[in-house]
Amino acid sequence: MKIGMLTGGGDCPGLNAVIRAVVRKGVFTYSDEFVGFLEGWRGLVEDKSMPLDLEAVGGILPRGGTILRTSRTNPSKHPDGLDRCMAALEKNKIEALIAIGGDDTLSVAQKLHERGAKVVGVPKTIDNDLGGTDYTFGFDTACNIVCEALDRVHTTAEAHNRVMVVEVMGRDAGWIALYSGIAGGADVILIPERPFDVDKVADSIRQRHERGLYFSIVVVAEGAKFSSAEPGQGAPVLQDMGKDEFGHVKLGGIANILAREIEKRTNYETRAVVLGHIQRGGTPSAFDRVLATRYGLGAIDMVHRGEFGSMAALRSNKIVSIPLLEAISKNRVVDNEMIQIVDGLFEKSAEKHSA
Ligand code: F6P
Repeated sequence: MKIGMLTGGGDCPGLNAVIRAVVRKGVFTYSDEFVGFLEGWRGLVEDKSMPLDLEAVGGILPRGGTILRTSRTNPSKHPDGLDRCMAALEKNKIEALIAIGGDDTLSVAQKLHERGAKVVGVPKTIDNDLGGTDYTFGFDTACNIVCEALDRVHTTAEAHNRVMVVEVMGRDAGWIALYSGIAGGADVILIPERPFDVDKVADSIRQRHERGLYFSIVVVAEGAKFSSAEPGQGAPVLQDMGKDEFGHVKLGGIANILAREIEKRTNYETRAVVLGHIQRGGTPSAFDRVLATRYGLGAIDMVHRGEFGSMAALRSNKIVSIPLLEAISKNRVVDNEMIQIVDGLFEKSAEKHSA
């Protein structure tokens, strides 16, 4: 078969491992031919592609980013965008398309499926917020990057008797903050799923000081929200008023505001660190290299089983095929059960502080 592939949305380590696995199994097992469309859906809207053969994927397993590059292009926002995608598939004689991306990318894949395109999705995002799968690749690498950063922040916080507020990505889900906060031994973990009262955060930091622990580490998700009457009560902090082609705002900046509010209440020296796109860069972890490879192998098998309009998903450590609609219908956020479990890690203050 002649098969197209693309990587869309925010990049993450592991994308090249998926591409490599699809091409290797496709060539070795099915004698497939591959075409890589460039820069996400833009590659189909503008018909920009490159041949993908064994040589093209040689040595890309450990490389971050994506050899096909990516974008947040939404064909529905371009004149006849979806028609142009269908035309590009026809012009290039593509018999099936493998789309690697998050909910935005896969929502476009679903639209093309509804127009008759033979599409298989692979779940990708550092946010780990895609429904229908236990883990997306990129998440583990991001958590390792944050955990390493927290270990480094710990030593400077302790040296200066400071409170360090570390802002992490994750969009509207707190998975990165929660997992890396646990792994990095954070003293306070703030996630979008549970708006927080900054007075209670200050109380719990004060309690540490009263126990002779003159430094604290606060991990805050970029989408976390103040609950009480603080700046932007109940709404996330935005970098600016811009939105991308899928309508997403640009989250970011809560760490600086929170650091100021903590210092105002405790009079402890407080500093903010925003990890930003470092969480999306560099080589994938071993876990993500294996998971991404498994997703790629699963996807090419799904193509040859004719399971279109589906996404490869990880369920209890098995790669299975689920409907795309199930994956994109609802984002997976941190559930209350997980929040209760993690709460057990923290001292119960007289005033219960938010996790
Ligand atoms: O979805 C992945 C992600 O890194 C989010 O965690 C973050 O909010 C967003 O992408 C940043 O988007 P961009 O790379 O377009 O600035």
